[in-house]
Amino acid sequence: MRVLLTLLVYTQLLATILFSVSISLPNEAYPSPCDDDEASCFEKTQTLQPIRREIYGNGRIIDITHRLTQKTLCGHPIKLVDLLTLSSNMRNGSLYNFSVMKLPLHAGTHVDAPGHMIADYFDAGFDVDTLDLDVLNGPGLLVDVPRDSNITAEVMKSLNIPKGVRRVLFRTLNTDRGLMWKEEFDSSFVGFMKDGAQWLVDNTDIKLVGTDYLSVAAADDAIPAHVVFLEGREIILVEGLKLDDVKAGLYNIHCLPLRLVGAEGSPIRCILIK
Ligand SMILES: *[C@@H]1O[C@H](CO)[C@@H](O)[C@H](O)[C@H]1NC(C)=O
Ligand SMILES: *[C@@H]1O[C@H](CO)[C@@H](O)[C@H](O)[C@H]1NC(C)=O
Ligand SMILES: *[C@@H]1O[C@H](CO)[C@@H](O)[C@H](O)[C@H]1NC(C)=O
Repeated sequence: MRVLLTLLVYTQLLATILFSVSISLPNEAYPSPCDDDEASCFEKTQTLQPIRREIYGNGRIIDITHRLTQKTLCGHPIKLVDLLTLSSNMRNGSLYNFSVMKLPLHAGTHVDAPGHMIADYFDAGFDVDTLDLDVLNGPGLLVDVPRDSNITAEVMKSLNIPKGVRRVLFRTLNTDRGLMWKEEFDSSFVGFMKDGAQWLVDNTDIKLVGTDYLSVAAADDAIPAHVVFLEGREIILVEGLKLDDVKAGLYNIHCLPLRLVGAEGSPIRCILIK
């Protein structure tokens, strides 16, 4: 259904940073958990429990990004089998752990660049590095879409989104059905139909469109609805957002893609700030 690039990120820089870090390790302020032998170190580190959060700052910051794991949903049929591989390993003699990532660019929470569905834009270099951070960051609305329909022109009209609103995240039946949490791609997801996309382009000031499944466009209109959004090269599409347990309303939206030159998509970290 979609064009998927595979990315191999190999960061020599990280190795350099890790080497320089060893100069300042450990000291009284930051004691190492591993100050004696390997075996007792292993036991101690087993009791270290990192905290994983969805919300920060007493609810002020809400993470609306899905975690990337081997199980994160991706466009059918690609899976994230080799997401992370340890190429250097502290348990077998290396001074540091050093992982390599292999990531389909349209997995989990991600952004589409104009080159995703329009070949001329891809060739001309309209990649994720050219996306406007001013569109991806600023005030916007999280709205609930009626649950009995895909996003048609009629549905868009009924949402009464005021002129001047530049960023909208559309929460749909996909969130209620927990579709992003499932292991298999489900083509019955809710998304924009071509006429809904066209209505948005013609009648609103929305430049950031976010939805809660891997594609903003319903499967039946996958290509035409994407093209309607992307052809003007102004609208940015963020897909696969985690909108569970968030109140509809006005937020400051912040989304940052990677600066992947030549890429028509990128993983993206999105947060809402109250
Ligand atoms: C150490 O572990 C890494 C990653 O698992 C592996 O690629 C490498 O071959 C191992 N080296 C030795 C000497 O076992
Ligand atoms: C480093 O590698 C060891 C396996 O050799 C693993 O147990 C440990 O979790 C790794 N640490 C990180 C941060 O990945
Ligand atoms: C939305 O469209 C898909 C096909 O693209 C369909 O399977 C699904 O039932 C529709 N959802 C609703 C709520 O109409």
